Amino acid sequence: MTTIRTRPARPPGGVRAFLALDFPTSREALAQLRRLGGARCGVKVGLELFTAAGPPLVRRLKADGVFLDLKVHDIPHTMEGAARSAAELGADLLTVHATAGPRGVAAAVAGARGSGTQILAVTVLTSEGGDVAGRVLRLARESAAAGAHGLVMSVEAARAARRAVGPGLLLVTPGIRFADGVAHDQARVATPGVAGREGADAMVLGRAVFGAADPAAALARALAQFRSGRRGRV
Ligand code: C5P
Repeated sequence: MTTIRTRPARPPGGVRAFLALDFPTSREALAQLRRLGGARCGVKVGLELFTAAGPPLVRRLKADGVFLDLKVHDIPHTMEGAARSAAELGADLLTVHATAGPRGVAAAVAGARGSGTQILAVTVLTSEGGDVAGRVLRLARESAAAGAHGLVMSVEAARAARRAVGPGLLLVTPGIRFADGVAHDQARVATPGVAGREGADAMVLGRAVFGAADPAAALARALAQFRSGRRGRV
């Protein structure tokens, strides 16, 4: 089924950042979150933390949005079941790999139907270098036609993807670094300001914040830059 989404997408809770809780235990994840003070953000639970701490931690996280980044890639039946379970858990967002194909993405959307859980299709990982523009666009179009609520992509691909899929899909961009930051294993990185300027609805912040000497200050700086970028001031 093709769904045309035309109303502008809005991140859960209106947040502009999801904090990547890439930590081995719930104890450490919660301690890191406490260091950040009161900024309004969503949190992202990925494979490392979910495998270690699972649903009990997700239920405990009372954030403005919980993003379950499990990057599901399987046969349609299994993708549908995974999305249903994520919806029952109360996740606001669940990622699936766009490369699972339109049937897989559509199955995940069906599994989440009737819940508040939105399905984000990951196009090409930000750790992958080279010329990926064509592949990102094809996967973005395919996933949008399969009913995905949003897309994950690197910042430099966001503007073209927005043009291709319209305003109604949530565009979330990882690979965020400050101008003087270290890229680590990410190949395609951009600053928070450029992410805002290029039309991302929300960014993922991981090591740029948690690896900073003062994570609360780094988060405030990233949010301020993102807002300026959205106003065209980078
Ligand atoms: O620390 P860093 O900012 O590099 O973390 C990026 C986060 O975003 C990680 O949790 C990673 O799994 C996730 N992610 C990504 N690229 C994608 C999708 C998700 O880096 N395409």
